[in-house]
Amino acid sequence: NEVFANGLENVKPAISFNPHDWESLAKDILPADSYGYIWGSAGLRETDDNNRAAFRKWALIPSRLVKSDFPSLKTALFGQEYDYPIAIAPIGVQRIFHRDGELASATAARKQHVPYIFSSAAATSIEDVARASGDGKRWYQLYWPSNENNEITASLLKRARDAGYSVLVVTLDTYILGWRPSDLNNGYNPFLRADKIGVELGFSDPVFRRKFRERHGVEIEEDMATAASEWAHTIFPGLSHGWEDLKFLQDHWDGPIVLKGIQSVADARRAVEAGVQGIVVSNHGGRQQDGGIGSLDVLPEIVDAVGDQIEVLFDSGVRGGADIAKALALGAKMVLIGRPYAYGLAIAGEAGVTHVLRCILADLNLTLHLSGIQSVAPEHLNRKVLRRVRD
Ligand code: FNR
Repeated sequence: NEVFANGLENVKPAISFNPHDWESLAKDILPADSYGYIWGSAGLRETDDNNRAAFRKWALIPSRLVKSDFPSLKTALFGQEYDYPIAIAPIGVQRIFHRDGELASATAARKQHVPYIFSSAAATSIEDVARASGDGKRWYQLYWPSNENNEITASLLKRARDAGYSVLVVTLDTYILGWRPSDLNNGYNPFLRADKIGVELGFSDPVFRRKFRERHGVEIEEDMATAASEWAHTIFPGLSHGWEDLKFLQDHWDGPIVLKGIQSVADARRAVEAGVQGIVVSNHGGRQQDGGIGSLDVLPEIVDAVGDQIEVLFDSGVRGGADIAKALALGAKMVLIGRPYAYGLAIAGEAGVTHVLRCILADLNLTLHLSGIQSVAPEHLNRKVLRRVRD
């Protein structure tokens, strides 16, 4: 709307409006190893490629002469109303991409009324991000420590609840980091760079601090390299949990719990049986397991199996408004934006994340409007607006 109101000649883009450019602009700005960390995917990037290819298998079929204003993007989820059907995906160690890191993206999210999902691999503390997020909606993503470290898990969950995070997102696909050739070539493990990212990771957690002191006889600040390594091992403990362990999280969290990383109908059904409130159909942007299916390819069957019992959210490969429209039409309730905002952050801090969110929302709004779709509610945006055009 602003573009039309002001005239195109007055739109002097500080940052390109083309999503493909965000990646290349970030590449120009960042050191090669940090850029490689955002861009990188597992193995031969086949899962990542399949994520994008999955969107091209569907086309939006527009309806003409539908009298309508700009569509409403309002969405209800877990008993709350959200202005838009998108959220900021959890992305760790953001101070590597820009000195303002998580504070910048949480501030941009608050101002654009988009929920912020805090990563437990963040380079800024739970409480500091909560302050930046202010009266904005925020969720907490857990990288789940092993059962031996349940005391740390309980501490993180309590801090998150106390700081106003309303939904717990438990990421199931990252108990160990994937085989990522770009990071291997660069000898890059961002979690071991406590010096570079302004020293947070889990360092403000009182239980982690106490355990470190008991083990080493010194404070974290006296040996940050060891602390960073121990934190990485704490949150990436290897495959140490089974479905039965979810009970511990349910006992220590009194809001909705969402399992992130579901890629099969069988697991979606297990999530329902386990009594959680939602799932994110996601393959972590292809960064974990290579040779996988495109995340959008599994969305319809998962929605068919469990969509009436549990909230189904979606991510992996979303780059523009039409991608979001397709995921919502296939039954997702909310779509997480990942790499695009990390590139925005690298390019221009808070202003960069703001730009990316505004572009994506404007693109979504116009795409729906031009398709004759009046709102994101399932009565308007559903499979009838899509045609399968490729296998
Ligand atoms: C991630 N992602 C992620 N997920 C998570 O649950 N906790 C985390 O700390 C991170 N960290 C992270 C860092 C970086 C640099 C990237 C790119 C991604 C995964 C993220 O939440 C989301 O699932 C993917 O980004 C979706 O894929 P696309 O759309 O970015 O390709």
